[in-house]
Amino acid sequence: PTVVYQLPDGTTSSVDVPAGQSVMDGSVRNNLPGIIAECGGSCSCATCHVYVDGGSSAEFGAPTAEEEDLLEFLDGVQPSSRLACQLVLTPDMDTITVTVPPADV
Ligand code: FES
Repeated sequence: PTVVYQLPDGTTSSVDVPAGQSVMDGSVRNNLPGIIAECGGSCSCATCHVYVDGGSSAEFGAPTAEEEDLLEFLDGVQPSSRLACQLVLTPDMDTITVTVPPADV
């Protein structure tokens, strides 16, 4: 699948991310800004916060209770907020669009 990252500086980056990897992996492996991923994807740091584009959100399963708990305490949280390390791509996905918040959100 292709993940389109709308970056905090207003630019957009499209990356091919293999199925089985997460939206967080795709960002970190391509050195894109904004997703820090301090905990390396174990759903405990919440530094991989993204907003999932309306059309893409239905492609992912609902957040786990763990993810919900972390999201609750984030600044700038919106209904479309997710933790990118929990957004794992599957082979049937085509293009996923996410917006990466500025570093302080
Ligand atoms: Fe730490 Fe997603 S990388 S919660």
